[in-house]
Formats: sequence, C-alpha cells, structure tokens
Amino acid sequence: MGFAYTDLSVDRDDLRDDVLTGLASSPKSIPPKYFYDDAGCRLFEAICAQPEYAVCRTEQSLMAAHLPEIAAAIGAVEGIVEPGAGDCVKVRRLLDALQPTHLVVMDIAGAPLAAAAEPLARDYPALAVTALGMDFIHDLDAATPYLPAGRRLVYYPGSSIGNFAPDAAAALLARFRQLAGAHGQLLIGFDLKKDPQRLHAAYNDAAGVTAAFNLNLLARLNRELGADFDPARFRHYAFYNPVAGRIEMHLVSLAEQDVNIAGQRVHFALGETLHTEHSYKFRGDEFSAIAHTAGWSLAGEWLHDGFAVQLYRGSR
Ligand code: AVJ
Repeated sequence: MGFAYTDLSVDRDDLRDDVLTGLASSPKSIPPKYFYDDAGCRLFEAICAQPEYAVCRTEQSLMAAHLPEIAAAIGAVEGIVEPGAGDCVKVRRLLDALQPTHLVVMDIAGAPLAAAAEPLARDYPALAVTALGMDFIHDLDAATPYLPAGRRLVYYPGSSIGNFAPDAAAALLARFRQLAGAHGQLLIGFDLKKDPQRLHAAYNDAAGVTAAFNLNLLARLNRELGADFDPARFRHYAFYNPVAGRIEMHLVSLAEQDVNIAGQRVHFALGETLHTEHSYKFRGDEFSAIAHTAGWSLAGEWLHDGFAVQLYRGSR
C-alpha cells in the first residue's frame, strides 16, 4: 500500500534556542530529545545491547510471551500510531498480530526513521506506512492530517515516557488521548521501580556506552552549533534518586571553564552540572493513576522481569 515520508522536523533554531535556554537555567540542562543525532541513535542501540541495560530486551521478551493475549485485548484496529518509533523494530510484532491497514511512525530523528520505516512497506504489502520526521513533544498536532480514520492504537513502548516528570507525562498522555480519537487505545511500556543497584548499573554500563551516549550530546553541539565543548572536561554521572523515583543523568564539569556556543560564552564552575536526562521508574498502580488523570482507563497489564506493558482505553 506504499510508503510516504514527510519531514516536519525541528530546525536548527529550535535546537539553538532550546540549548541556550537550558544553559541559561539553573541547574543547566538540555532536553534529552537532543541525544538522538545519527551517532546518538547508534549509541542508544548499542546501549540496548549492553548486559546491564535490560529495558529493550525485557520488553521484547514480554511482548513475545504475551502477544496473543495482548492482541486479543486490543481487538480490531485500523491504524497504529507510534511516536518516537526510532528503528521501527518493536512495532513489527504488533503489525503481525493486529494487521492494521495504516501505520504512522514519528521521530525527531527523521532520516534514520525514514530509512527504518520504508522496509516495513515492502514487508507488509497491504500496509500504508507514513513516516513523519517531527518533534512530537513540541508539536504533536502536526501529525493530525496524517492520521488514519477508524480505530487507532497509540503505541509508546520502550519506557520513553520515563523521560517526562509525572506532570509532563500526564500532559503528553492527554495529547495521546486526543491523537487516538474515538475508541482510541494506548499500549505503553515502562520500566518499573526495582533494586536501585540494578537501576544504577543500567546507566553505568562497564563498557562505557551510556557515558559515550551522554557525552555525544557535546559533540553534537560542537558540530551543529559551532560550540567548543571539550568532552574530556565533563564526566558522565548517572544515579538513581529513590526520593524522586528516577535516574538522573548529568555531565559534570571537571574544571572551571568557559564554553563558546552559538555566539555566546557560557561559564561552568568546577563541579557544576549540565543535567541531560531524567528517566522515571514507576509502579504499575502509580502509572495507571497518572494515565487516569489524562483520560485513560486501564484495560490490561502484563509484567515481566521489572518491566510493564499496560493497555488503556479512553475513559471519556
Ligand atoms: C529511551 C528514554 C527509554 O531513559 O532508559 C538509556 C534512554 N538513557 N540510557 C532510558 C537512555 C540512558 C532511555 N529511554
């Protein structure tokens, strides 16, 4: 049924404005969506292959083990919509089981998304595949004209929702509710609260891939914004904060230093942090309470080795 790619993606000025705003904040921060340049996408895939980082593997085993049940609970859908689809690997299982006529995938990394989505149209000849290069956090509504009619399932796997603090997560889930439309459903995967040592290890892999992923952000800013960060003068520092229920990922300045970026000079004190990511962990009931405030009611839950997949239907 074909393939279409549309680039609705973030332009250079959004990156520049967001980065300058983040560097002017206290603590300094940069939104985690900017990790995913080409090198960042490859590094994230390498993280998923590390023995300490089980999120991707565990979700895939969960889906493999429970697919028939999950598909039966979802029932008939015409369209699947996946924000942040990345390499488009996870959705294949759902395409096999649900056989929708339409798939819409979105990702801020447009070129890798297009390359990953095109083969889906070949492998599923009856499927119309639409790939949208876009920042869905910034402007989910831009996807509206591309949505299929009929029953829609929003698929948001991989614990991507963990990047959002509870309030922001609720706001995003409410926008997914709009996107899903009448009779819309949401299938969402997230990492559960567990032994903090295990969580800590997952973001401090022995091979240093997570550190490289975090530091790659500085290389991206050097390349795309003409910045002069010296990555050797920043330390990857990630830990689980049990009070907030999240992994915090930082780049801590190892020296007092000035960095030039997009025509501005930014000062880092010794030990000052550039905060790059929150990765929230939830309990199942905690998450469903958040989803409930966003207009979703729990219709199914599957658990496997510290990971959860939940199915929601619109509650209003
Ligand atoms: C893609 C947001 C789910 O938070 O676990 C992995 C990104 N950061 N290691 C996560 C990530 C460091 C990942 N998510």
